Amino acid sequence: MGKIKVAFATGIHNEFGYKGMLPWQGHPHQDKDFTAFKEFTKGCVVVMGKHTFASLPFRLPTRINVVLGSENLVAKNGDVADVYFNKPKDLNLKQWLHSLSDWYKKDVVVIGGANLVNETLAFADGVLYTRFHYRKGYEHDVSMPLLPKYIGSPYRFEQYGENETFMDITYYKRG
Ligand SMILES: NC(=O)c1ccc[n+]([C@@H]2O[C@H](COP(=O)([O-])OP(=O)(O)OC[C@H]3O[C@@H](n4cnc5c(N)ncnc54)[C@H](OP(=O)(O)O)[C@@H]3O)[C@@H](O)[C@H]2O)c1
Repeated sequence: MGKIKVAFATGIHNEFGYKGMLPWQGHPHQDKDFTAFKEFTKGCVVVMGKHTFASLPFRLPTRINVVLGSENLVAKNGDVADVYFNKPKDLNLKQWLHSLSDWYKKDVVVIGGANLVNETLAFADGVLYTRFHYRKGYEHDVSMPLLPKYIGSPYRFEQYGENETFMDITYYKRG
């Protein structure tokens, strides 16, 4: 059976999204996060809410893009997803993600938004969590609900030369 994983990032005040973008858009060290994200999701099925897909410049290449929502929103360049799914209220998310994994014979990574990530964290086999540290906080209009306690074992920690801005990457693997 394939693994169900989650990849996401927050600021230290749980900032998650801002005006359909990432709160730290243009951050000088954002590339580090993209590299980790690309490696973590390579060859997987990526599952996301419709606003997350609409925030992407294009559909994520070499991955199956699955989008949840009642409208079929497109990526910024007009790309469409491989699969659109209007999730019924009583859907068992865990079962559905496993059935996607069985169908495609690939691991599945949930990549946003905030509620979908939070729901999946309850049963995920693996998590890539990047935290952007900026003490004053980033402007945001989407917050991540409080993170479960098990997100916390540092996998890699990087500090950069700037006074107030640095990033750490935390990787948690269940089991
Ligand atoms: N920090 C990060 O790691 C990260 C990652 C991804 C995105 N973002 C940012 O976050 C923002 C978008 O995220 P978002 O949370 O606002 O929206 P989102 O989750 O991408 O989209 C929300 C929509 O997805 C559909 N959906 C289906 N199942 C859902 C479920 N179980 N839980 C929640 N929604 C579900 C719903 O559409 P219907 O109402 O049509 O059913 C809902 O209105 C953008 O600013 C984006 O740049 C940040």
